Amino acid sequence: MYDFSTIIPRRGTGNIKYDRRPELDPFWVADMDFASAPEICEALIRRCQHPIFGYAQAHTGLIDATLAYLHTTKGLNVGESDILWLGGLVPALSLAVRAFCNPGDAVMTCSPSYPPFLNVHHDGQQVDLISLPHTQIEGKWTFDFAAMEAAVTPRTRLFLLSNPQNPLGRVFTKEELASLCEFCERHDLILVSDEIHCDLVLDEIATPHLCAHKLPENFHHRIITLLSPSKTYNIAGIGIAYAVITDSSLRRKFTSSRGNTLAEINTFGYYAAEAAYLHGEPWRRAMISYLAANQEFLLSYLAANAPRLIVNRNEATYLTWIDCRALGIEHPAMHLEKKSALFVSDGSFFGHPGHIRWNFACPRSYLEQGLEKLVRGFSPESLGA
Ligand SMILES: Cc1ncc(COP(=O)(O)O)c(C=O)c1O
Repeated sequence: MYDFSTIIPRRGTGNIKYDRRPELDPFWVADMDFASAPEICEALIRRCQHPIFGYAQAHTGLIDATLAYLHTTKGLNVGESDILWLGGLVPALSLAVRAFCNPGDAVMTCSPSYPPFLNVHHDGQQVDLISLPHTQIEGKWTFDFAAMEAAVTPRTRLFLLSNPQNPLGRVFTKEELASLCEFCERHDLILVSDEIHCDLVLDEIATPHLCAHKLPENFHHRIITLLSPSKTYNIAGIGIAYAVITDSSLRRKFTSSRGNTLAEINTFGYYAAEAAYLHGEPWRRAMISYLAANQEFLLSYLAANAPRLIVNRNEATYLTWIDCRALGIEHPAMHLEKKSALFVSDGSFFGHPGHIRWNFACPRSYLEQGLEKLVRGFSPESLGA
């Protein structure tokens, strides 16, 4: 019913994935090469047919659709006033730093991590970063609570969480999240939970996503949950996101840090989000099956053809974390660019050089071509061995 296999040319459509380096085949930034859900495209066309595009606000249909989504899929009973609409999640991370950190304070996070987590502290004044590596226990990436306890300081104010985790693809369990929340409680940290990838869980029965606001209510005064349909429905270029903050004083502090720094949200974002939440589910399910099959394809292809790479198996997201250190090259992404004309994300931006992040949200034939190029780029001849 939905076509995820046909390659849709994107070059020259003003997108960063293809147009930043048009001479390379991109597998980097987190957007998908799939047409968005037809109902979203139709909603945007309908909105365009009204030819006035003045300042927008969240309309009733969107608010109802969002509250219903939060209730049905996340189990949250929140009200309209608990939601703050934003043009993106990264600005929300920045607002949190500015709202809650004074000079000399610190932000804590774990790596490898979505790059803004490692640099958003610069948006505050003299705010430090405490970044600790995630650790692997029985093959699963998780938190190193002992290291976190040793590193946290009395001036640490925020913990930035990515759940599901980009780039490790973990969906943290209830137990892991409860321990993290207890850690935040012990050290009086605000937990900023970025859940932009929460509807990209590849097996929702095996690894269900738990929203931070599902943790016990006595923690809610320190929780900010950030959400958006943007990754799931491939509408990141439209710019729509929101924060759920149920504690009124936390919300007030967060909101007041906005000042005049943020533009109004565009009308298309509101209408795209409404259509996603109201009508997108069948498309999302089909897209997830396609992604899950792409992940299996990628894992078996690389196991057969590039056995020296350590390739992570994701529970969520379409971004694979690949450990290339056995190849002995310093900058594997730059190497692939030179040898294979590929554009992938280098691990150094995530705090871990020697790795790459590979985006597999694309038609399988394009994925296969890309993996062939990767294998060639990492062949003994290309490595100069
Ligand atoms: C964990 C995470 N947070 C936020 C974003 C981007 O959010 P936005 O485009 O809404 O600023 C991304 C994009 O890849 C992401 O992976």
